[in-house]
Amino acid sequence: HAPDGKKNGDLYRDYNDDRNAESQDTLYCTSNGVPYPHSYETQRVGENGPLLLQDFHLVDLLSHFDRERIPERVVHAKGGGAHGYYQTTDPIDDLCIADIFQPGKKCPITVRFSTVGGESGSHDCARDPRGFSVKFRTDEGNWDMVANNTPVFFLRDPAKFPHFIHTQKRDPATHLSGADDSTMFWDYLSQNPESVHQVMILMGDRGIPENWRKMHGYSGHTMKLVNKNGDWVYTQFHFKSKQGTGFIPQEESNSYSPDAHQKDLFYSIENGDYPGWDVCVQTMTPKQAEELWEKQKINVFDLTHVWPHGQFPLRKVGEFYLNENVKNYFAEIEQVTFNPAHMVPGIEPSADPVLQSRLFSYPDTHRHRVGVNYQQLPVNAPRTPYRIANFQRDGNMAFYNQGSRPAYLSSIQPISFRNRSVDLDKTHGHFAGAAVTFLSEIRPEDFVAPRNLWEKVFDDGAKDRFISNVSGHMKTCRKEEIIKRQIAIFREVSEDIASRLEKATGVKGYDGISGLRFLGSHNGMAKSDDL
Ligand code: HEM
Repeated sequence: HAPDGKKNGDLYRDYNDDRNAESQDTLYCTSNGVPYPHSYETQRVGENGPLLLQDFHLVDLLSHFDRERIPERVVHAKGGGAHGYYQTTDPIDDLCIADIFQPGKKCPITVRFSTVGGESGSHDCARDPRGFSVKFRTDEGNWDMVANNTPVFFLRDPAKFPHFIHTQKRDPATHLSGADDSTMFWDYLSQNPESVHQVMILMGDRGIPENWRKMHGYSGHTMKLVNKNGDWVYTQFHFKSKQGTGFIPQEESNSYSPDAHQKDLFYSIENGDYPGWDVCVQTMTPKQAEELWEKQKINVFDLTHVWPHGQFPLRKVGEFYLNENVKNYFAEIEQVTFNPAHMVPGIEPSADPVLQSRLFSYPDTHRHRVGVNYQQLPVNAPRTPYRIANFQRDGNMAFYNQGSRPAYLSSIQPISFRNRSVDLDKTHGHFAGAAVTFLSEIRPEDFVAPRNLWEKVFDDGAKDRFISNVSGHMKTCRKEEIIKRQIAIFREVSEDIASRLEKATGVKGYDGISGLRFLGSHNGMAKSDDL
């Protein structure tokens, strides 16, 4: 039994308790919580003999140490960040239903800055684009903007990405990086000329920013904002630094410490000088996008291009500030997982192929890099006013496994659903067309093949066994309502099955499914629209 009348579930330490742990309120223990008199105590046979396998303290210590590293990010491995808050100052409720863009809205954020190509210990002042990721913890779930400090990118075909990145990494034979051998880098670029816009920026002043506070952020990709009528516009997000921008000339870059940007951010926040950014959008109607292609040959799905600012001016939405350093780098920065597919209602992906590929790639790497239950880690977990329920259960390190609720969509212990505020067909129709239909909709065709089985394939013996198998199996079903519904489903296949089952079970089933509502599936055979 748990002490002090607490339930066992309350015994798990909560995240803030862990985060705020300080040395004075701690007691040295093994990992199972047993106090141990000294951290350097090793059990050995006699004065000079071998060690003992029973020495759990030493085994515990070494085996945990052996597992301290998780894979570093395959790109953007070197970085740092902080926490802060976002607030909407100039609502765009005319353009977008996202809760976070409504008047007065505010939410906690976590930001991570990074270089792209280098390993986790590499130099902050490398010539490279910078990552600029923001996790907005909105009341409708987490929205991650996984942006860079440049508005364009080296490629527009996602299949090129692994090749390009490999040219930024070490040579397989010499193990030399680009600092000593730029052959691969230029080999790739000289074969892929669409990269030249990004190369111009990279080799220009913006290639080595003065620090993370003095850079802008860009979604780069075209995305979509959807309003309450289901109308949508294309958009690009911009984070405009309130500190302005600055750069480091090449020849000065080596005089900085490898962690110069980490140091700058940490001590700015520590000293109360909180950096801030304006969040702005450019927007464009679908018609304008077509005209931009016809007249200026700018394709909004091609992230080697920018949207001309004169034609599509920035509109400010809100601002964010970083005002809190992390207390534990590993827990709050190394394990944070930003994912371009984390969008909230009202913000949607466009058909940009690089964006579409990223929607897959990030959560895929997160399952590998952090583990299948990475969304449960405190820094990644959504903080919503409602309790989150779904059917993702178990797996490694399932700390929050959703209690005793059934692990399927159950009619006995139902969960609630909130309708979409805009019609999914309308919002995705433009590029997804018929791909976004409800796969689970029940239609008359669903019963054709089963009817053929019953009428044309099963002989008399098979039919008898079928009825006996089903009715025998239903003997342990504890709810008559469930049997009534299942008989109704069999009735859509054949009246013969239904009536034979009614006789065998002693339960009168419903007439058919046209009056039934199904959990999670649209009833395409319903008489009433409500079903
Ligand atoms: C990180 C893939 C293009 C911005 C990453 C990671 C992967 C990845 C696998 C590591 C994520 C992690 O371990 O948490 C890709 C692919 C791309 C692509 C497949 C193209 C096909 C882009 C573009 C941008 C971008 C165009 C910016 C507009 C970032 C940022 C991070 C990152 C900022 C670091 C996230 C963090 O701070 O944790 N990318 N990326 N990437 N990527 Fe991309």
